[in-house]
Amino acid sequence: MNGIRFETVSKSYDDQVVLDRFSMSVETAEMKIILGGSGSGKSTILKMVLGLIRPDSGSITVSDQSINELDEEELMPLRSKIGMVFQEGALFDSLTVAENVSYRLREQKSGSEEEIRAITEEVLGFVGLGDAIDRMPSELSGGMKRRVAIARALVGNPSIMLYDEPTAGLDPITSRTICELVMRLRDLEQVTTIFVTHDLKSAMTMASEKAFREENGEVQFRRTPNGSNGNTGFIILESGRTLLEGQRIDLERTDDTYIREFLD
Ligand SMILES: Nc1ncnc2c1ncn2[C@@H]1O[C@H](COP(=O)(O)OP(=O)(O)OP(=O)(O)O)[C@@H](O)[C@H]1O
Ligand SMILES: [Mg+2]
Repeated sequence: MNGIRFETVSKSYDDQVVLDRFSMSVETAEMKIILGGSGSGKSTILKMVLGLIRPDSGSITVSDQSINELDEEELMPLRSKIGMVFQEGALFDSLTVAENVSYRLREQKSGSEEEIRAITEEVLGFVGLGDAIDRMPSELSGGMKRRVAIARALVGNPSIMLYDEPTAGLDPITSRTICELVMRLRDLEQVTTIFVTHDLKSAMTMASEKAFREENGEVQFRRTPNGSNGNTGFIILESGRTLLEGQRIDLERTDDTYIREFLD
């Protein structure tokens, strides 16, 4: 339905190999956490899901659709189902929070001013920033800016979310807030998720907890009994190839020196 599949995808720039027959699959409502050193190809993978970077060979399927052959116009409906929080995800400094969030809607001229405002309020409410709607980015903390970037990606109720290091440089409590948003979408809205990060603590949190809704409507997070969440797996990437793919437990058990170095 809303899965993502890469089959032996390769990409090079001149003589530099960025992805080397890389394969992975993320099923609907599953999460894959991609860990890997700088330059290992993580952002490239996310941009390929959107069709922003094309592979040299191999095939990419998103929501049961092979995207290799799609042109820009054919990619549009698919892109509208995908929310991406870019690594360099800067907000426009001269626009208010509301204008940043609704940018795409305005550009596509979709909906009246009232409708656009309602959607903006809804997504900002979801990330807990309803009060900041008319502020300027310069008045926000780093964590708030990241949440605005997530809100912006949530416009249009995407069924796939791609996060490129959304907790980088944030303190543990703020990172936790971001992880909770990501888990809510994964577990309560069945959003298919790829989460690229260097932040192992956040990765482990999302691999071992689940969001659920209490009878009174409140959302809670609970560690799964075996400390591993079946719908969340890891990929460790090195130089465009999968070094390890598995669950939390596989990661903790490995004696591969590169992975141990990365984990320790
Ligand atoms: N347009 C481009 N032209 C040439 N080389 C590129 C281009 N885009 C990416 N690369 C190279 O591809 C490699 C992978 O880049 P990518 O951005 O996917 O890495 P990353 O794993 O996201 O790294 P980081 O953790 O630093 O964000 C890098 O060596 C980068 O220099
Ligand atoms: Mg990157």
